[in-house]
Amino acid sequence: MVMPTRIRLLQLLADGRFHSGESLAVALGVSRAAIWKQVRQLRDAFGQDVHAVRGRGYRLARPLDLLDSERISAQFSDETGAQISVIHLHQSLDSTNSWLMEQARKGAANGTVCLAEQQSAGRGRHGRRWISPYGSNVYLSLLWRFELAPMRLSGLSLAAGIAVLRTLREFGAVEAGLKWPNDILWQQKKLAGLLLEVSGESEGPAQVVLGVGLNTHMDEQGAVIDQPWTDLRSIAGVRPHTRNELVASLIENLVRVANLYASEGLQPFMQEWHDADLMLGRQVVVRNARGAIQGQHRGIDENGALLLAVEGDIRSFHAGEVSLRSEGS
Ligand code: BTN
Repeated sequence: MVMPTRIRLLQLLADGRFHSGESLAVALGVSRAAIWKQVRQLRDAFGQDVHAVRGRGYRLARPLDLLDSERISAQFSDETGAQISVIHLHQSLDSTNSWLMEQARKGAANGTVCLAEQQSAGRGRHGRRWISPYGSNVYLSLLWRFELAPMRLSGLSLAAGIAVLRTLREFGAVEAGLKWPNDILWQQKKLAGLLLEVSGESEGPAQVVLGVGLNTHMDEQGAVIDQPWTDLRSIAGVRPHTRNELVASLIENLVRVANLYASEGLQPFMQEWHDADLMLGRQVVVRNARGAIQGQHRGIDENGALLLAVEGDIRSFHAGEVSLRSEGS
């Protein structure tokens, strides 16, 4: 596929240094006037501000750490490399989950990965928007097929949370933890989230698109997010890394978790989940379609349901949103 000039221009400017109009024109085989036209479009298409300085040329207001599918796959273990069939890297999509669901319907292979540098309609749980500016954060979807019935996949979203948590800790966000069902928080602020979309026959097989959104460097668009959030660059102790390294580790951990879940379910992840559960023992409110119920958070069961102690009874919840009782009630 031939890459559009605008994307090649962005790649040349990604280092954040000045590039003369002439050198860009030569590198891309177009006129200087064409470079000027494309530079102006970078703001509208990708939200990228470019400084133009007479005598020096153009430079991006902020350097970009762009994704590269070859650099990502070069870091896979042999086992993971053998199971990832292809990485589709898009500059812009409505939603990596929506795109991959469509490919799955058309028969895409197990282990297909979809990444985007930006999403125009990124989707979160409960119909929320997932803010997805260009060239920062991670927007990743992985297609995985299971021989299991969709019903048996209820714990998978919790296990997938462990995969993301392992990556975050590997990179130094050691205090990151989990909030049921699969929010990844740091100091009660959202750092990453998962959206799993399952389809299939009632007796199996089933296919799942596992969508991961991870904040690495949120820009001014973060102002519209309606819940406390953070990003990796704000967390002390996170080691220097590229987004390619982060994505490779996420895929590696997701694949390991998906394989183990396929053979043993949620059970092997229970202890790790318990240890990372930020709400365990706290007084919480669970809100679902039936209303709001208060109680003490007692962890999860082997189906991935949330356990809540309410007036002497233990009740289990398969859907809903949890918040600390002091937060909103
Ligand atoms: C949540 O609400 O916590 C889940 C957020 C999931 C966002 C990711 S970004 C990649 C993938 N594509 C989407 O449209 N959503 C998921």
